[in-house]
Amino acid sequence: MAATRIVIDTDPGVDDAVAILLALASPEVEVLALTSVAGNVDVDQTTRNARRLLDLAGRPDVPVARGAAGPLVVAATYEDGHVHGHDGLGDLTWEDPATPESPEHAVDLIARLAREAPLTIVAIAPLTNVALLRARHPGIESRIERLVIMGGASFAGNVTAAAEFNVWFDPEAAASVLSGPWPITLMPLDLTHQAWLTDADLAYFAGLGTEVGTRVAGMLEPYASYHERWYGNRDVIMHDATAVYELVVPGAIATRGAHLAVETAGTLTRGMTVIDRRAAHAERPTRVGEHLDRLAFATLVRERLARYPLAG
Ligand code: BDR
Ligand code: CA
Repeated sequence: MAATRIVIDTDPGVDDAVAILLALASPEVEVLALTSVAGNVDVDQTTRNARRLLDLAGRPDVPVARGAAGPLVVAATYEDGHVHGHDGLGDLTWEDPATPESPEHAVDLIARLAREAPLTIVAIAPLTNVALLRARHPGIESRIERLVIMGGASFAGNVTAAAEFNVWFDPEAAASVLSGPWPITLMPLDLTHQAWLTDADLAYFAGLGTEVGTRVAGMLEPYASYHERWYGNRDVIMHDATAVYELVVPGAIATRGAHLAVETAGTLTRGMTVIDRRAAHAERPTRVGEHLDRLAFATLVRERLARYPLAG
């Protein structure tokens, strides 16, 4: 079967990093570009981090195109480094990235690739670029085969009690994207909290003896400390990797049809994703991830990240 053509829209981000490395090591998907957006850190840094990750993966041929520097309507503050580190990737030391930045805007790059052949967007960051894609390229939705998004939460948020980070950061963008005429599969927190890696997985990566293994273990260590402070244990939740997993192992994530909307006006609930799972919506093309098998997920991540070669 031909590989699924994907663009990853991202704000690396430690879990973005694992998602990107997973995709680049998986022949089931062809990563045509990374597009950066402000989110976990500012867009200068997310762009730099995307380039760093392509250096790490040995894939400087994959274009990195810079996108939006902030939300569509209301400025949001970046997190203060307590989740992903001040640099977004766990504050390790990196060389200046050799992978170049494309002169093309993220949104124009995505539109061009979508016009060439069916394209899947893997959106693992605030949805500003994807909303701008709709605005700047009217009708582009029909060229998008699928839109797989990490975002939202059915029951409890992670920035506020109601809102998940990617939707909270730019609710107007999320509202536009989730109401668009394209086939969406959403991976909300309820699903991503089933996809964690343990200290044993971190030790496995560290023991691979590769640059990828060592850096992944290094990035995940402070992320594990953050999880311990906030959730009471060191299991690291791989939110963004679930969106890639959906494409690498089709069917591994159980989904159901739902109606999606975003609260943009609520004083306590701004940025909340309203996921209507009532039976009448069960057959809709808009799907929500519901369940995955953690061990199968972790095994696949281990196996794919182990494919990166030893240095030298
Ligand atoms: C999402 O927010 C970011 O911090 C993560 O990278 C992920 O995309 C989880 O809420
Ligand atoms: Ca992210």
